[in-house]
Amino acid sequence: MADIPQTLAASIRAIHDYPKPGIIFRDITTLLGDAAAFRSAVDELVRPYADLAIDQIAGIEARGFILGGAMAHQLSAGFVPIRKKGKLPHTTVRVAYSLEYGVDEMEMHVDAVKPGDKVILCDDLIATGGTAEGAVKLLRQLGAEVVSACFVIDLPELGGRKKLEALGVEVRTLVS
Ligand code: PRP
Ligand code: ADE
Repeated sequence: MADIPQTLAASIRAIHDYPKPGIIFRDITTLLGDAAAFRSAVDELVRPYADLAIDQIAGIEARGFILGGAMAHQLSAGFVPIRKKGKLPHTTVRVAYSLEYGVDEMEMHVDAVKPGDKVILCDDLIATGGTAEGAVKLLRQLGAEVVSACFVIDLPELGGRKKLEALGVEVRTLVS
């Protein structure tokens, strides 16, 4: 059988000096456009959670929406969007966060999860973990249980996995 992490890694494009000089941007549009790679990535992301009765997948804007939506469908879970500030129409909770190349704020609807909901956080990539940490704070503020956080790509030298694990969140990634 083909080595799945290696096949997935080969489907991801590296763009140098985007969005800022010195950043190597890991572009998953090439993975998403490859039917076999997209299916394989979603299959691998959901596999550990198949028997866990997950209530919601929380996806981080923007690429976490694509992967998280597919995961939610496959796990028969709901989908919760975590969006950049100012995009959600109803009352929100908001958190500021920093990432590899900037700072921003993100929001969730106050009624997007119920206390005690079992939630999996999903995004395409974890680098410094600042974005995912902010998302965990929002979910916990609303009383959700963050069962796990999953990403296609880990950039381990930037420390994001360790940051989330220090918050008591299990982290699963497909390629480093
Ligand atoms: C990227 C990526 C993660 C975040 C990871 O999103 O999709 O959400 O950066 O970085 P961190 O681990 O250092 O926090 P980006 O902010 O570029 O947003 P976009 O998906 O809307 O382009
Ligand atoms: N988010 C933070 N760092 C990133 C990178 N190097 N590539 C893609 N998304 C990112």
